[in-house]
Amino acid sequence: MGVVSGSPASVSASGGGGGGGAADKQAAFAKGLEGVIGGQTGVCSIEQDKLIYRGYEIHDLAEHATFEEVAFLLLEGHKPSPAELARFKAEVVAERALHPAATAFIESAGGWLASGRAVPMDVLRTAVSILGHTDVDCQDNSPSANLRKAKRLLAKIPTIIGHMQCVIDGRAIIGRELGGAPDLDHAANLLYLMTGKRPSKDEAKVMDVSLILYAEHEFNASTFTTRVIAGTLSDMHSAVAGGIGALKGPLHGGANEMAMEMLKEIVKDIGEDGIGSAKVDAWMEQAFVSKRKLMGFGHRVYRNGDHRAGILMGLGKKMAGTLTGTFGGLPALKWFALGEQVQGIMLAKKKIFPNVDFPCGMTYFTMRIPVPQYTPIFVAARITGWAAHISEQHADNRLIRPLSIYTGPALKKWNG
Ligand code: CMC
Repeated sequence: MGVVSGSPASVSASGGGGGGGAADKQAAFAKGLEGVIGGQTGVCSIEQDKLIYRGYEIHDLAEHATFEEVAFLLLEGHKPSPAELARFKAEVVAERALHPAATAFIESAGGWLASGRAVPMDVLRTAVSILGHTDVDCQDNSPSANLRKAKRLLAKIPTIIGHMQCVIDGRAIIGRELGGAPDLDHAANLLYLMTGKRPSKDEAKVMDVSLILYAEHEFNASTFTTRVIAGTLSDMHSAVAGGIGALKGPLHGGANEMAMEMLKEIVKDIGEDGIGSAKVDAWMEQAFVSKRKLMGFGHRVYRNGDHRAGILMGLGKKMAGTLTGTFGGLPALKWFALGEQVQGIMLAKKKIFPNVDFPCGMTYFTMRIPVPQYTPIFVAARITGWAAHISEQHADNRLIRPLSIYTGPALKKWNG
């Protein structure tokens, strides 16, 4: 991290060269805020050897908890008792249905989705904004109102995704009245809303664990965005809409879609028979030469790999081993064989590890989930982390307002 002395000419907080104030201070500068501590949180800790949600380690949660339990942990602050969990689940199920205005918007978005002018993340962002208008608590930032809004968003985001998929597929909307099937758990209901079919136990379990893995990740770009918005004392729906915008980008949540698109591109270029052969090495070498960023690899914080990636890779591959038929023309396990080969080359040649988005791509693909819905599903999980951070920001707020270094023209006279 470089340290820039705060001369008036180099630090723009003074208004591009005038006055003192903040410009007299020493300001630490790191491009992309790398290594900068942006705040304090009791929600999550990312450490090189573990990832912790409110005191619980991610492998422990993935193995022993359900997504609803983790959502409760993040939103309400502690592990739920059986009675608390039952109450929480009932509250969330009761909030699943969308206001007709939101459903009408989703139905009206079919043309934009079909033309490609809008992708599902855009429609989800707008639908969340509309939900703000229909929420009686929208303008109330108190802890109790924030918790009520968080549960409603948690409940309704899968319904938005499901309704949108029905519109994309030209099918009748599933679960318009109830937001799905009330007897199904959160992850299973999400799949049901998208397909109209009750998922198998394995599919529901893998989706549930993927939601746990995606639920929270400290001061990542989208969570930081939500905190910046909440820090102005703006409301939860505004912050979540901003978070969705930040998550959409391929350097962040959008990477799960791009990771799968990259694997499809490799197969298109080298053919099915090329999997496992030196053709993959050659494809990767070409990518390295052209300085291409390989999606689903690398991380700003983790130096020795993303704790979540191995969990999802193991689960996804295990389920793939039970699947028959083909997926995008290949047996399910072939995608994982290719993924493992790509991972191995990336590690050997670049020492760069996969992040959670890499196995997510293959896992969701072999669950026959349409690729453009991978990042919206990420939202269905991360809403819990975002809401926890927004509430935490509101509860102990200070405006988030960093400085910048001015790189524009030197001072000159308008009439000179
Ligand atoms: N493919 C190829 N090279 C890479 C990659 C990659 N995925 N990631 C990092 N590098 C190289 C990069 O080219 C650079 O090399 P050099 O120093 O020779 O120029 C070096 O590693 C440092 O990369 P960086 O982009 O400066 O590192 P960063 O900390 O700014 O970026 C990152 C982190 C996640 C944006 C980046 O690794 C990346 O673009 N990855 C691909 C997108 C992706 O998978 N994003 C998901 C992130 S984690 C989960 C989530 O948020 O959804």
